[in-house]
Amino acid sequence: MERIVWISSLLLLLGFATGLGVTRSVDATANERILSSIKRHMNDSADPCEDFQNYATGKFHEVNKKEDWEITQDAIRDSYIGKLQSVLDLLKDRLFVDEFSVEEKVWRFYNTCLTAPEGTSRIRRFLELVPPGENLTWPPLVAQGSQWPKQQFQWLETLANLRLYALENPLIFFEIRADFYSSNKFSLALSKPDLYKLSNVSEVEDLLKRTGVGPRRAVYLARSIIQLDSDLNGPTGVDTFYTFTLEDVQSRTNLQMGKYLQTVFGHSFENSTSVYVSNMEYFEQIDGVVRKYDSEVVASYLMIQFVRFLLFLDGNGPEKKPAQCAAAVASQMELASDLLYENHYLGQGKREEYSREVQRIFEAVSRTLMARLEENRMHLTDDEVNFLQQKLLAKTLKVGYLPDGVNHRRFVTNFYDDLELDTHPDFARAQLSVLRHRQRRFLDKFNGPVAKGTDYLYFSGYISDNVPGIWFDDSHNIIVMPYNMLLEPYFAPESHDVFKMSLLGFYLARTMMKSFLPGDLPFDSVGNYGGYLNEFKERQSYVDGLACLNSTARSKDLHYRSGDVVSLGLVYETFFGGNSVFNQDQPAFADVPLKKLFLLNVAQLFSFTQEYQDEVQMDSDKLRLSQAVSNLPAFCEIFNCPDTAPLNPPRKCEMW
Ligand SMILES: *[C@@H]1O[C@H](CO)[C@@H](O)[C@H](O)[C@H]1NC(C)=O
Ligand SMILES: *[C@@H]1O[C@H](CO)[C@@H](O)[C@H](O)[C@H]1NC(C)=O
Ligand SMILES: *[C@@H]1O[C@H](CO)[C@@H](O)[C@H](O)[C@H]1NC(C)=O
Ligand SMILES: *[C@@H]1O[C@H](CO)[C@@H](O)[C@H](O)[C@H]1NC(C)=O
Ligand SMILES: *[C@@H]1O[C@H](CO)[C@@H](O)[C@H](O)[C@H]1NC(C)=O
Repeated sequence: MERIVWISSLLLLLGFATGLGVTRSVDATANERILSSIKRHMNDSADPCEDFQNYATGKFHEVNKKEDWEITQDAIRDSYIGKLQSVLDLLKDRLFVDEFSVEEKVWRFYNTCLTAPEGTSRIRRFLELVPPGENLTWPPLVAQGSQWPKQQFQWLETLANLRLYALENPLIFFEIRADFYSSNKFSLALSKPDLYKLSNVSEVEDLLKRTGVGPRRAVYLARSIIQLDSDLNGPTGVDTFYTFTLEDVQSRTNLQMGKYLQTVFGHSFENSTSVYVSNMEYFEQIDGVVRKYDSEVVASYLMIQFVRFLLFLDGNGPEKKPAQCAAAVASQMELASDLLYENHYLGQGKREEYSREVQRIFEAVSRTLMARLEENRMHLTDDEVNFLQQKLLAKTLKVGYLPDGVNHRRFVTNFYDDLELDTHPDFARAQLSVLRHRQRRFLDKFNGPVAKGTDYLYFSGYISDNVPGIWFDDSHNIIVMPYNMLLEPYFAPESHDVFKMSLLGFYLARTMMKSFLPGDLPFDSVGNYGGYLNEFKERQSYVDGLACLNSTARSKDLHYRSGDVVSLGLVYETFFGGNSVFNQDQPAFADVPLKKLFLLNVAQLFSFTQEYQDEVQMDSDKLRLSQAVSNLPAFCEIFNCPDTAPLNPPRKCEMW
């Protein structure tokens, strides 16, 4: 089976790193605001046919320096967090009649973040509260003069303890997801972790010192930790999931996975429980590698991974500003945040109105893709075309995280029902309570049925960093549009369709196309894997398409590039094509021709000027945008590009 790329939502999100500064002015209409920010980002001295990113967004960084925005996502992130913060600040003056209310819990977390003594936010405080095992503390926390009782340390038990706070990663990447072949039940899947590789010795050294390790010991430990990490990254097998029984896994790997699962879930598992494992070779060597190292090194390795995880969370920066504390609420109590945001900003029918608007865009793009499937440029069989059309027809778009079919307040109140937060201000304690509660709720899902349809809840084990994005859940065939995406410049309800269809429309199309890339293609309309198109990667029509895309510039991920190229073609055709339902008259507010405006606004998604880091196998925004526009035949007509222009290759690649 193709490796199913669940971290790709994260990558996708990084891919849409961009920025748009919107000057709020009472008189300006949404159209004028958006137009003026597009114009301010343009670099008129650049040649659009040579470097469209520079032409369309070359001044982005200059214009948004003051706000410290590197990408458009930063702008809407700040806008969302700012709005949430206003709500939280209002809670201050409220008398809480009910201490069990969602507002009271959110307020306690927010207020603890703001007012708790600094000492309660220290890393050592967190480590005190989350020991590596029963009756065991972390090595740097041992009282002076005593020895750390290394014989009591069992790394797999520690890993399980850390998992209770949502640390997903080190050594074993362990996922709970809808079963690949039967998406109405959950299953367990193990794979090699592939993020957060440790490579910077001085970073590890600094972190060790923060936990209280002496400078000389820190040098030794940091080197050993890096060595351990790199030893583990040695052998790599195939990234394909196969089923094993728990007993098989244990005997092949010599890892007590049953005990691990028991600690994580709080109940025992049968030896016959089936588990998906990819890259068994990796798991088979873990025990041997870890045994080569002193227990203190292994404990420090896990400790450092936990510390990095904590420091990455919103709210854990050195300064506790209201915006940072609001960001902590948004990322760690996201369902409560959704409820508060909805109550304050999406009342009076706005939520329904916005949903209808987004749905309209989604359906327009869907219709174009449906017609494309009918044309069958990929030379699929009738059954395959039918399979994909069914899948597209069944694809739904959901706005907000909470289930559509239930009363949101009641749902959220029940969700946080057993979260208890002290009034005593201790930040580490409060945050760990929130994380542990959140993770418990997530793990509890495993015991119940998979919530479908109007019961569907978007809730993942992964804690978001608040970077707004549109998510696709392949096991449910659902696209989720969080509330933080329904903000200017992505979405202004009263703005012209040219803006909605270009920015949000492109992003939606790109998210839809995710399920048409080879890895996700075999998932059917209800999210089950198999049946059709498992070997799509090897199909001649697809191979030819990729070869064409590969002919002008190399790519770190050609599949990903194909998604960009097809998506731009799709939204452009939806708006300007023969079957368009959109008004194409030149709007009175704009002196820029409509087609130019459309492409300039799409480009706002691609203003990031740096390369993505190595672990994110994605081309730079500049290259992605160049490839998307240079394969759009209309681009060169609109910008009058000569035949010799870099963005006017003689052959435009076509797929789908
Ligand atoms: C605008 O484009 C010109 C020509 O490519 C370039 O020299 C200049 O640095 C760009 N300005 C900014 C602010 O990037
Ligand atoms: C931890 O300490 C308590 C009290 O000293 C003892 O009863 C218990 O057995 C210990 N647990 C382990 C796992 O050593
Ligand atoms: C390594 O970490 C140190 C300290 O945290 C940091 O200053 C430095 O920029 C990092 N180096 C790299 C290459 O990331
Ligand atoms: C599960 O398998 C292990 C050996 O892998 C064995 O020691 C244990 O007794 C088995 N448990 C049950 C409940 O059969
Ligand atoms: C893309 O082109 C490079 C050479 O420029 C080649 O090494 C690579 O195999 C090509 N990839 C595909 C998928 O065609």
